[in-house]
Amino acid sequence: MRLIITSTLSFMLFMFSAVAQNPAGKSLKKQLQNNLIAAVDQYKLLQKSVPQDRMPRNFDMKTGTLATSDTKWWCSGFFPGTLWYIYEFTKDAEIRKAAEARLAILEKEKHFTGNHDLGFMMFCSFGTAYRITGNESYKKSVDTAAMSLATRYRPSIKSIQSWDSSSNFRCPVIVDNMMNLELLCWVSEHGGDPRFREIAINHANSTIKHHFRPDNAAYHVLDYTLADGGKLLGNRTWQGAHDTSAWSRGNAWALYGFSMMYRMTKDVQYLEQAKKIAAFLLTHKNMPNDLIPYWDFDAPGIPNAPRDASAASIMASAFIELSGFVKGKEKATYLRAAEKMLSVLSSPEYFAAPGTNGGFLIKHSVGALPFNAEVDFAITYADYYYVEAAMRYLAL
Ligand code: GLY
Repeated sequence: MRLIITSTLSFMLFMFSAVAQNPAGKSLKKQLQNNLIAAVDQYKLLQKSVPQDRMPRNFDMKTGTLATSDTKWWCSGFFPGTLWYIYEFTKDAEIRKAAEARLAILEKEKHFTGNHDLGFMMFCSFGTAYRITGNESYKKSVDTAAMSLATRYRPSIKSIQSWDSSSNFRCPVIVDNMMNLELLCWVSEHGGDPRFREIAINHANSTIKHHFRPDNAAYHVLDYTLADGGKLLGNRTWQGAHDTSAWSRGNAWALYGFSMMYRMTKDVQYLEQAKKIAAFLLTHKNMPNDLIPYWDFDAPGIPNAPRDASAASIMASAFIELSGFVKGKEKATYLRAAEKMLSVLSSPEYFAAPGTNGGFLIKHSVGALPFNAEVDFAITYADYYYVEAAMRYLAL
């Protein structure tokens, strides 16, 4: 208890100093505008470095190596999605052309049913493109992607199966899956099958029921059996420090996912869940003062464990959305947290200098530390959610 009060107090003090340094958020707005303009040349550089039939995946800052992926990789929607956001802000014709060309190679994945990642792949890309352009063919791709995703719904566990069964898991459902629900809700709301929304709601409700520790941190993986009417086998992890640890990006997905589900449904239990996750994150003794989380709140080696800028980008975007649903002190707390994250991510420590970082915007993310994969790398989703958060903040 004392620990919670101490960390809450230091958080409030820190927030006070953040507000004092940036009274109206004006300088932050200016910085975000500048960085979005700088993103044009960075993303043109990235666009030129990646073959036309591939997507960028990551950049290893230590070796200067750029890795690309095919369009089935779960992150294939982030590059086109970020290009669309940059186009929306700058109206740069070359960026739009690049965005259209990348959508053209991604479109076939609307039929993909190999895992749950259709929301990341098809809604961050085609959904964003449709919102900006109103092009009906983009909406058709989004509609088809929702149908593909719905094939992975398992009624006996009222959840969408994330990955196919393997030697590691029988029927895994990961907390990241909350992010794919926006695709389902949106399609139902825009003339699609109402069942997609029901699936999303059932999935979110199962997540609340099973996916959180008593302190409101999310587990990464739940493993179920579909036999005997469906049963939860236990909590597991894939990218976290251990089976019951609070993996930072997973908790960022949870914060974003429940804030988004409140927007889509206005069901207050989702708002309450988002607030509980926010409280866990912002009062945790292992949340650094600059609000860029370590890769896992239970990581060994803190304070020398790697930070994960991608988790901060996602949280910043989520906190801006969440701040729109509450008032008074709560609103100020969420907004100040987003401002702090955005301001640190926009600084030279995290925001790449022009012409560096392989053309990516944000440095220092962690993909999957237990596999020694993408540790301290630039990764597409850190850029996507940073740019989205910047656009959300500028729109306030
Ligand atoms: N959805 C996988 C990840 O966040 O790494």
